[in-house]
Amino acid sequence: MSNIAILEVDGKRYEFPMLKGSENEITIDINNLRSVTGGITTLDPGFKNTSSCESAITFLDGEKGILRYRGYSIEELAEKSDFLEVAYLLIFGELPTKVQKADFTKEIKKNNIVDEDIKKILDGFPRSAHPMGVLSALTSALTAFNPKSVNVESEKDMFKAVCKILGKFPVLVAWTYKKEEGLPLAYGDNSLGYVENIIKMMFERPNEKFVMNPVVVKALDKLLILHADHEQNCSTSTVRVVGSSQTGLFASLSAGISALWGPLHGGANQAVIEMLEAIKEDGGDYQKYIAKAKDKDDPFRLMGFGHRVYKNFDPRANIIKEAAEEVLNDLGIDDPVLDIARGLAKEALSDEYFKSRNLYPNVDFYSGIIYRALGIPVPMFTVMFALGRLPGWIAQWKEMRLRKEPISRPRQLYTGAPLRAFVEEAER
Ligand code: ACO
Repeated sequence: MSNIAILEVDGKRYEFPMLKGSENEITIDINNLRSVTGGITTLDPGFKNTSSCESAITFLDGEKGILRYRGYSIEELAEKSDFLEVAYLLIFGELPTKVQKADFTKEIKKNNIVDEDIKKILDGFPRSAHPMGVLSALTSALTAFNPKSVNVESEKDMFKAVCKILGKFPVLVAWTYKKEEGLPLAYGDNSLGYVENIIKMMFERPNEKFVMNPVVVKALDKLLILHADHEQNCSTSTVRVVGSSQTGLFASLSAGISALWGPLHGGANQAVIEMLEAIKEDGGDYQKYIAKAKDKDDPFRLMGFGHRVYKNFDPRANIIKEAAEEVLNDLGIDDPVLDIARGLAKEALSDEYFKSRNLYPNVDFYSGIIYRALGIPVPMFTVMFALGRLPGWIAQWKEMRLRKEPISRPRQLYTGAPLRAFVEEAER
């Protein structure tokens, strides 16, 4: 293949270099398109064809169903690693040695206390507030309590900032949950592992001895690994875009949380369980809902189906489906919603409408079933996703800053009114 792309406009030829990624993906570098053509831009709503950056963090091939963090396959990481190790890998580029992991864990534990005044902010929210809104606000508020901006060029500074947010974020997650439940806020126990401590902070009740269930720990650890990064998705792009104006880490992460909230992104796990519940309430007839999803006059979509990038299968969905079955078996839960999910997936996977559009169950189709089995209320599902995605957002923010990327500022094709004279109020 030639390494030059040619654009012809009004008989004039412009040449643009073709770049090759380390997995042989090809992109046309149009960095100087406007300057050489005298202002021509490209139009790509939703950035379906646009590589917004160069990145060395996550590789995914949607056609082949491949997902790798820093070169390691998601299947191998989910089986052999743990969430904290994966976080280190994503943010610092390599799996940690034993010493590095111990230092990382120690520094996170040193930082997993939040200012007492954060409780006052939490107090101001109504119990009915959506936990994603609360989490986004609290994460942004961390800036006020940690105003010193991080020097990304300094490894030491960056390490400290990373440990700070990895330490404090689970506390915010747990408190968001406690607020929703109306339970007292707790700090857990620093003698526990990272995920164990999250579970204790969330589920310990003030008047009962807490018993840790290793099945729950393993399942949550796996879920967090599967959600840890997904290259330039909506929330990650948001974190990079916001950070590109040199906004601080906590504020950029808070913007990412808001982006994740939506039902077409992280909010899908909540939408899936609500859909499965509705089908159950309606007598369990999933065929009816498949017909609704196919009906172009009906806005209904099969939640948890389809993906902007995966057009073959979502490798995370396969791992999570197995994990869901394991958790439900181990906890002895017979959830009719899982039967509906199984039936719905089977039916849709053999239906021409879904087959021809490459619509497969995505990661969120099964994750809600696990969260529910773990006793996590539905509005908290997306918060759990945010907890998993945190290392990815941090890694991408750090990369963007280290690469000294310019401020994100897209162009547009203006389709509004041409210049017109101001109309006086009496004449409108
Ligand atoms: N149910 C029914 N039809 C669907 C679905 C669905 N879930 N998803 C896509 N389609 C159809 C569209 O109607 C369209 O049909 P057409 O070509 O006849 O018009 C075609 O498939 C292509 O759909 P697009 O919306 O163009 O695909 P896009 O890549 O833009 O959207 C998205 C991807 C947003 C994920 C979409 O599939 C969807 O809405 N899915 C349901 C929500 C969901 O599960 N989101 C979670 C994504 S994973 C994550 O964020 C972690």
